Amino acid sequence: MCGIIGCAARRDVADLILGGLRQLEYRGYDSAGLAVIRDGSLVVVRREGRIDNLAGQVKASGVDGHTGIGHTRWATHGAPSEKNAHPHSDGSGNLAVIHNGIIENHEVLRERLKAKGHVFHSETDSEVFPHLVQEHQKTHDLLDAVRLAIQEVRGTYAFVVIDRTQPGRIVGARRDSPLVVGLGKGENYLASDVSALLALTRDVVYLANGDVVELTPDRVRVLDENGADKPLQISRVEWDAEAAAKGGYRHYMLKEIDEQPAVVAKTLQRHLDESSGKARFVLPDAAALEPWLANVDRISITACGTSWHAGLVGKFLIEKRAGIPVDVDYASEFRYRDAVLSKNHLVLAISQSGETLDTLAAIREARARGAKVLSIVNVQGSSLVRDSDGVVLTDAGPEIGVASTKAFTTQLVALQVLSWVLARARGRLDREREAKAVEDLRVLRFKLEECLSRGEEVAKAAELFARAQDFLFLGRGVNYPVALEGALKLKEISYIHAEGYPAGEMKHGPIALIDANMPVVVVATPGRVHEKVLSNMQEVKARGGRIVAVAAADDAAVRKIADFVLPVPVVDEDLSPIVNVVPLQRLAYWVADLRGCDIDKPRNLAKSVTVE
Ligand code: F6R
Repeated sequence: MCGIIGCAARRDVADLILGGLRQLEYRGYDSAGLAVIRDGSLVVVRREGRIDNLAGQVKASGVDGHTGIGHTRWATHGAPSEKNAHPHSDGSGNLAVIHNGIIENHEVLRERLKAKGHVFHSETDSEVFPHLVQEHQKTHDLLDAVRLAIQEVRGTYAFVVIDRTQPGRIVGARRDSPLVVGLGKGENYLASDVSALLALTRDVVYLANGDVVELTPDRVRVLDENGADKPLQISRVEWDAEAAAKGGYRHYMLKEIDEQPAVVAKTLQRHLDESSGKARFVLPDAAALEPWLANVDRISITACGTSWHAGLVGKFLIEKRAGIPVDVDYASEFRYRDAVLSKNHLVLAISQSGETLDTLAAIREARARGAKVLSIVNVQGSSLVRDSDGVVLTDAGPEIGVASTKAFTTQLVALQVLSWVLARARGRLDREREAKAVEDLRVLRFKLEECLSRGEEVAKAAELFARAQDFLFLGRGVNYPVALEGALKLKEISYIHAEGYPAGEMKHGPIALIDANMPVVVVATPGRVHEKVLSNMQEVKARGGRIVAVAAADDAAVRKIADFVLPVPVVDEDLSPIVNVVPLQRLAYWVADLRGCDIDKPRNLAKSVTVE
């Protein structure tokens, strides 16, 4: 949440900052701002709303300079207005500061600073920080002033600071909000995530909690929380700029839906060892943890949103294949519920961004209480990767659309692999079965391509139902989480109220909602509960409901009951969520498009939720 970029260069950087902000806009789009230093003066431009508003003003006024910072905001404290937009300044007007996170003790700090004569202009928590730095600058250099100021702040932050009197110098600091350094030639950058840097460099330094960084065009210096210099650990980012571009698509979401065959195959390939002829499942980024997995006697999965839905599928797979009891918690609940953690307890976190604060807080709590943490993560170098005992990386590539799509299907592949690895560790998987499991997963890519080639039915269903005010999504067994995910996709991008329910639960309450106005989307693909699902569909029909079914193309029984069928290729039931979710992602997309919604940037939302 909130996108941050900074650059110290020997050329004008306004365009570069605006370009970076566009890549970061998914992190928040309530307001945007930029500050540059030119000829000893600090110029700040801020606008309510999207980056385009800011870019228009920057272009019109010709603002530019060699040192600059930019921010795109997801509002927490204070309305999304120009006055509350970042960068914020201190009383002297020398400093410009951008911030991602929440300063929890901002009120106390504000009162103290007011008593010293500081005047504030916004309702934000962030504005106290430049004033704090200014106070410390009375006796210290900018770098030390920032170091002292962060010691007074309670909460989460990535701060980036420039000072009019020190052109060519940028100071940053982070705690629990991401900040990464990009290394260029004769220029250096800071950003809240690598996607903002891909057009500039792929050489980065991920900052750790408590780090403070100083950038000039030629030098990067990182200090740890005790003020000691740290050697730069340079990582090469695997992603390239093209992966983060829209590539001719109208929306990132549509591009990301279409990328699923390729990224599902890539994620699988990362976790196969083919050195001995027959492919075996491996966890290359959790090698140290793998021997211990044989001891695991309980698993707690913790995640948020779409990743939590993936976790529910994981529960089915792990319990069935490895015979290990699994519970699945929202990360925001897990942390505060005194979960019982035993000696051989594995906490499994799932996150696309690796920066979701609720998930990070949950695993930190679990580790503090002695549990081992394995994480399924998409973003390398993210906080979750650093804070886990082992990781299972997904290869979704940059996911820019706020509504998660390809991250979900790659998480499901990672869970497939993990469930088999756990089964093998417990002696429940022989070589033959493993080879068959690998083959089934390999075929998925083609099943997804087939599924994506059947777009017309989804578009027609969207047209039929786009004006509905409520939707009910039903699924059973391993496809119950798919119903939840279908409902989440629809509500977040089309603003239609939608609920996901286990189909068998419908008769215990939601059946009262059914009428001809509320479409009921049922995941009804073949499997051990297929007949039960058919009965649930009959219950809907008997009450005048209209059914859209995700089903095998040749399923006559479903066709007889459903008003509309979204056909999917048939795969093994345990793999079916990976295929079945695709028409639901597309249904949400087309309904939102018909309703004229801003698909990649739905209202009130932002990607990578770094506040609690
Ligand atoms: C929904 C969505 C969110 C995220 C959730 C967790 O489309 O994107 O529900 O799934 O905020 O985010 P990560 O996976 O980054 O931890």
